[in-house]
Amino acid sequence: MWKKNYSRREFVKQNSLTGIGAILAMGITPSVFSFNSKGSSPAILGGAPVRTKGWPGWPVWDTATDEKNVLEVLRNGVWCRAGVERSVVSEFEKKWAETLGAKRCLAVVNGTNALIVALRQLDIGGGDEVIVTPYTFIATISAILEVGAMPVFVDIDPETFQINPEKIESKITPRTRAILPVHILGLPVDIVRIMEIAKKHNLLVVEDACQAWLAEVNHQKVGTFGNAGCFSFQNSKHLAIGEGGAIISNDDDFMDRCHSYHNCGRPYGKMPDLVGGSYTIRANNLRMTEYQAAIGLAQLKRLDGHTTTRNENAAYLKSKIKTVPGILPYRLYDNVTRASFHLFPFRYKKEEFQGIPREGFLKALSAEGIPCSPGYGGTLNSMPYLDDAFRSKNYKKMYPKEMLDFNKFVEQNRCPENDRICNEEAVWLSQNMLLGTKADMDDIAMALGKIHQNAGAIKGKV
Ligand SMILES: Cc1ncc(COP(=O)(O)O)c(C=O)c1O
Repeated sequence: MWKKNYSRREFVKQNSLTGIGAILAMGITPSVFSFNSKGSSPAILGGAPVRTKGWPGWPVWDTATDEKNVLEVLRNGVWCRAGVERSVVSEFEKKWAETLGAKRCLAVVNGTNALIVALRQLDIGGGDEVIVTPYTFIATISAILEVGAMPVFVDIDPETFQINPEKIESKITPRTRAILPVHILGLPVDIVRIMEIAKKHNLLVVEDACQAWLAEVNHQKVGTFGNAGCFSFQNSKHLAIGEGGAIISNDDDFMDRCHSYHNCGRPYGKMPDLVGGSYTIRANNLRMTEYQAAIGLAQLKRLDGHTTTRNENAAYLKSKIKTVPGILPYRLYDNVTRASFHLFPFRYKKEEFQGIPREGFLKALSAEGIPCSPGYGGTLNSMPYLDDAFRSKNYKKMYPKEMLDFNKFVEQNRCPENDRICNEEAVWLSQNMLLGTKADMDDIAMALGKIHQNAGAIKGKV
């Protein structure tokens, strides 16, 4: 075992010369570092931070090529796909479907509406139950409520941050119509097991892959396992368009209906046009603009390379920090062949950090120049928005009274593992940090080791 007392000067020198990277690359974990208390005092207590330079920005674009794409759309004056046979939007849809290995793709205004359209066109609605994780963005649950269905929450596996497939079957009732697995944080769920359960119980599956572009299970892209897969292209996302979303599927009839629905109900594909130009289904207008698709096509060119970089850096960082006591990085299921890493999550165990609460740890880590967050703040299985839905006129017509008792619902939908992750343990590093260099990852590892080693001094001061 290797131990060294760092003076401040040595520490700064090592850091700036990326000597830390070399040390860490030797496989020495930060936990064995010993810091001279004067020289390497934690930044939160006034010492020099591990890092003062910034992180890669987001979103990224290439002025030469991306601006050309957008200007072409501007100058040809066709900014909307409606009524145009071959649009930039349809080119984007074709490319996204090909990239994922799906038969069809429909671009829409955002990921939330991709989910709503998919659920609606699979005829999931009033009186139906949909099994879902509480560890997700609100949009997943909003989509279920928007179609009038009832979310049924299944707890997560804290190691993977994903819905625990072994807890799904006990939540299936005669009302259950679908499972809505979310590949949250860009780490695939155990979709193979979930598909087995769905098949056994004759349930539909809509994958929320809104954070999981190009992620794979057994070399198959996520989003292509279920009846439909949904994506988001919002600004923070890896395929960033500003706003945007997509539905993918291999089912032509379903995709024809989705297309028709997103275009005011005009018939599409094999759908019958009863009277020429008629509107055949109740619908909406959720069309993506041509500008958005032009940006999407430009972003698509970078996505694969970025995904490789994120995977390499995540694996490297994980290998460096996993032996820091109290830092438990994510676990990927064995069949995951590629993840997206929309976030790099780990669990923080305060017992190993002298009892410093997570907020204090986050402050100390940020002070070292490592941006971090606690992730999803509240627990979606017990928030008032559910009660708002239950009190609505429609829900009262669609469900028996006992199903709309909010307190009872909360009791029946408890997810203690998720509570602990949300309220005490989860720490996220954002995806743009994973586009940095190995030396950048070393800075993160060094900062974690430094805080661990100085936990006694930090305690009570943050
Ligand atoms: C897991 C998940 N589902 C759905 C959505 C909704 O996507 P959008 O913001 O494009 O509506 C998001 C967006 O953050 C998400 O992270």
